[in-house]
Amino acid sequence: MNNLFTLNDKTILITGASSGIGKQAAILVSQAGGTVWITGRDQPRLKETSSLLADGDHHMKVADLTVEKEMDSLIGELPKLNGVVHCAGIVEPLPVKFIMQEHINRMFSINYELPVNLTGKLLRKKKVLDHASLLFMSTIATRNPYVGGALYSGSKAALEAYSKTLALELVGKGIRANCLMAGLVDTPMIVNPSEEKMQEEALKKYLQRYPLGIGRPEDVAGAILYFLSDASKWVSGTTLIMGGE
Ligand SMILES: NC(=O)c1ccc[n+]([C@@H]2O[C@H](COP(=O)([O-])OP(=O)(O)OC[C@H]3O[C@@H](n4cnc5c(N)ncnc54)[C@H](OP(=O)(O)O)[C@@H]3O)[C@@H](O)[C@H]2O)c1
Repeated sequence: MNNLFTLNDKTILITGASSGIGKQAAILVSQAGGTVWITGRDQPRLKETSSLLADGDHHMKVADLTVEKEMDSLIGELPKLNGVVHCAGIVEPLPVKFIMQEHINRMFSINYELPVNLTGKLLRKKKVLDHASLLFMSTIATRNPYVGGALYSGSKAALEAYSKTLALELVGKGIRANCLMAGLVDTPMIVNPSEEKMQEEALKKYLQRYPLGIGRPEDVAGAILYFLSDASKWVSGTTLIMGGE
């Protein structure tokens, strides 16, 4: 039987590859035979990801992708791509009454403008091959709000809407666009000092929302592999909910 999930001969760009889900995705993609281009801001952590990749002609590029020059420099070096996984993102809880313009700018510049600008530039520079797969990370918080999550959920809801339109516009080239709407995944992103102070009862209640347990980066990486592979070649414009619910 052909391995539908192989990424042999596929070149994949993964943003946010210096940590958490992006790091695990890079490792799994390389293990599935893909050639990966990994990017992130933190050089030592990006190097660590690089050291964990399966053998192959992989590349790493340190870049703050909210800085146009750094994004352009990455794009200039990239080959033509069979897939892009947009994992770069931030979460900064803030109750609505404290939201100021600077917070809106920061959240949206990383979580929404970065993937939107990167995608547009990659398309204009003809770096995206026909039948490529473009994947965006969203959150179940767009569906299940939590206190302090207005900006984060808003930025990801906007990204979900963008991804669906992208799928529509690129269907003629067989290029697919999809979103992963993940629940809580155990990555550096969710380390919250106040959690230590969480009452045992409150913590228990919170964890009840996850009868399958909190997600691990490898749980999400498995779904990323599916979306990058030919196993999902008939799937576009969707959002996969993976919340351990
Ligand atoms: N963890 C969760 O519970 C969860 C749930 C649902 C969705 N998600 C989404 O999944 C994605 C990955 O999350 P994660 O948990 O793996 O987060 P993480 O461990 O904090 O990793 C975030 C990554 O984004 C990169 N990044 C942030 N700002 C950047 C910028 N301006 N330019 C370039 N790279 C930038 C970071 O790079 P450096 O560290 O090198 O600066 C890091 O590699 C995010 O979009 C997140 O919103 C996460």
